[in-house]
Amino acid sequence: MAGAKLGIDLGTSKVAIYMEGAGIVLREPAVIAVDCVTDRMICGGQEAYEMIGREPPSIKVVAPLEHGTISDYDYAERMLKHFVRQVCSYRFFKPRATISVPTSVTEAETRSVIQAITAAGIRQATLIEEHVAAAIGAGLDISQPHATMVVDFGAGTTDAAVLSVGGIAAQASLRTGSNDLDDSIVRMLRTEYNLLVGKQTAERVKKNIGYAVDVPKGLTMDVPGRDSVSGLPVVRTVSADAVHDCIQETLNVLDAAIHGVLENCPPDLVGDIYTDGIVLTGGGALLHNLDKRLSHYIGTECRVADCPADCVATGTGMALRYMGSTMYSVNQFEYDFAEWADD
Ligand SMILES: Nc1ncnc2c1ncn2[C@@H]1O[C@H](COP(=O)(O)OP(=O)(O)OP(=O)(O)O)[C@@H](O)[C@H]1O
Ligand SMILES: [Mg+2]
Repeated sequence: MAGAKLGIDLGTSKVAIYMEGAGIVLREPAVIAVDCVTDRMICGGQEAYEMIGREPPSIKVVAPLEHGTISDYDYAERMLKHFVRQVCSYRFFKPRATISVPTSVTEAETRSVIQAITAAGIRQATLIEEHVAAAIGAGLDISQPHATMVVDFGAGTTDAAVLSVGGIAAQASLRTGSNDLDDSIVRMLRTEYNLLVGKQTAERVKKNIGYAVDVPKGLTMDVPGRDSVSGLPVVRTVSADAVHDCIQETLNVLDAAIHGVLENCPPDLVGDIYTDGIVLTGGGALLHNLDKRLSHYIGTECRVADCPADCVATGTGMALRYMGSTMYSVNQFEYDFAEWADD
């Protein structure tokens, strides 16, 4: 059967597309800009992302996914169509794809993903759980009778799982992610520094001076924003210690989720994890010293995968080769749209 084979990571903050034989061919923020009067899509991805907080009243920038699931079906469909067309302009054969979804996804949410990708021109789709894709993309061999543990700390979701013999031995899926750290930073800057900032600035603060543990002494960052009292533009020197303190609540949720997965895991598999350690994926894993904090809390080595934000897309693409086999849990959800395809 001809037609491109795609692996799509439909994330809360970004869409990444892997194409068989070419690797990751698209990595774009999951947003589109729309004309408020005509409802026409103006642009999508990076171009739209750069408009956030700077757009005129006639334009709105929409993020159609929340916590890993579609919150606005119509915009999600248009965004996907825009991205799929960028990577493969099909004329005769529509592409086939594997799409990652968080494990916490409901039946109705699954259906909306399927509908959006069909409308975007995909002929056949297989859904794969995000932590399975993350593990494959991080280079873990999940087919062996030996446990591996992966924690995908994304923008809006966190998926943690112990995998063995191609299946899931224990797992947790939270609608909490690295974006919650940004929200905590926005609140902390308002209350402790009388500084009003948008989410993009908070994300920059997190990336620059956000430490999960072991904050370098005296580290600060000059953060521009609006004084909440005078309403005037100001720059405040923000300490990394204040950022560290305000993100602890979300990090404690992450600790508890990993703890819960290990508690529900058969003892022999826990032994394997103790020996091999835990692999962290997702953009959130790039938070300074997150691996160190988790290693200390769990008492097992935690390491960040290479290019952690790309693992799900790569794994989703690599899982294409298992389409139709009975090897991995990806086959639990296979949807064939061939009967509706016009190729
Ligand atoms: N260097 C960094 N330090 C800290 N956080 C980072 C860094 N780089 C990216 N992030 C965060 O990682 C998150 C994006 O990660 P990722 O691309 O894995 O999410 P996603 O796949 O879109 O979301 P989800 O899987 O939850 O639907 C964002 O919250 C971003 O701020
Ligand atoms: Mg993700």
